Amino acid sequence: FAMAAAQSESNHSGVPEEGAEGLVAEARGAWVLYQGCWLRPPAAQSVMIVQEHFEARPDDTFLLTFPKCGTTWLKALAFTVTNRSCHAVTGDGHPLLSRHPQDLVPFLEAPYRQLHPLADLEKLASPRLLSTHMPLTLLPPCMSSLGCRIVYLCRNPKDVFVSLWQFISKVNADYTMDKAFELFSDGVCPYGPIWEHNLGFWKKSIAESDRVLFLKYDEMMAEPVKHVLMLAKFLCVPFTEEEVSRGVVEDVVHLCSFDKLRSVPVNSSGVTDRIGGVPMENSSYFRTGKVGDWENHLTEEMAKKLDAIVEEKLRGSGLMF
Ligand code: A3P
Repeated sequence: FAMAAAQSESNHSGVPEEGAEGLVAEARGAWVLYQGCWLRPPAAQSVMIVQEHFEARPDDTFLLTFPKCGTTWLKALAFTVTNRSCHAVTGDGHPLLSRHPQDLVPFLEAPYRQLHPLADLEKLASPRLLSTHMPLTLLPPCMSSLGCRIVYLCRNPKDVFVSLWQFISKVNADYTMDKAFELFSDGVCPYGPIWEHNLGFWKKSIAESDRVLFLKYDEMMAEPVKHVLMLAKFLCVPFTEEEVSRGVVEDVVHLCSFDKLRSVPVNSSGVTDRIGGVPMENSSYFRTGKVGDWENHLTEEMAKKLDAIVEEKLRGSGLMF
C-alpha cells in the first residue's frame, strides 16, 4: 500500500485523477471514496484493474491486512511455514536472510500504475501465496466463488494509526499528527475506514471459519508459537510431531521475529520503490514492533476519541480490541 498514501497530499486537490473519475462517490484531500473504501486515485485505479482482470485459483491463499497491521510479519511467517520443506528454517541460505519479507509474497494491487503486472502472477506455480489490503467488499468475486482461503491479520486501531502516521509522514511532511488523526477518525486513510475493513473479515471468519482465519497482532505477539501452529494448520502444512519436538516452530518464530528481521542487512539498509514513484527505506517496515506504542504518541483525549469511535462501530459484533 504504503506508498499510495505516501505521495504528497499537496499534489491532490480533491479532484480524482484520470481513471478514477466518475467511479468515485466522494473525494477528500488526497483520497477518493471508491466502493465505500478510501484510496488514493492511483490505488483505486489499481484495485479496479485487479477487480477486472485478476484470475484467482481455488488453491490460492491470500494474506489480508489493513496497512500497518503486521503485513511484513505475516508474509515472513506464512512464507517460512509453507516453504520449510525446500528452505530449512535454520539454513544459512534462507530467503529471509537475503530478501525483504515484502518481496517474498506478491502484493495483488501493486504497483499503482496503469500497466499492472498481473501477468506475473499468472506465471507463479500453484498453490500461490498472495497478499492484498483490499476490504472484503472490493475483492474480486472469483476469490469467494472458488473458495480461496484468507488469513486476516488485524491490530489495535490506535497502534495502527501511530504506525501509519509515522510511516507516511516520513515521505509526506503535510501528513501531520493532527491532520492524520482527524482523517483517520473519519475513516479516511488508505483502505479505510479501518472498522469496516475489520468487520467485513470478522463476520466472514465466523460464517466461513474453514476459509477465513482471523488473527490479531497483539495475540500473536503474546503467543507466537500457538499462532504459528494455527497458521500452519490453516495453510494445510501442519507441523509434524517430530518437527514440534525438534523445536522447528520456535525456529520459525525466531527467524520471523521483529529483532531478527530488523537486523538483516537487506531490511536494515537501502531504499526500495516497491510501488512506483515513492522510494521508501527498507527499514521503515520495522519501526518498534511493540504492542501499545500508541501510549507514547497519542494524548489521552485522542485515545478516548478513537476508542469511542471504534467501540461504537464494532458494537454487537463481538470483535474487540
Ligand atoms: P510499528 O510501526 O508499530 O513498529 P505492515 O507490515 O503491515 O506495514 O506493518 C508494520 C508494522 O509491523 C510496524 O509496526 C512494524 O514495526 C511491525 N513489524 C514489522 N515486522 C514485524 C515482526 N517481524 N514482528 C512484529 N511486528 C513487526
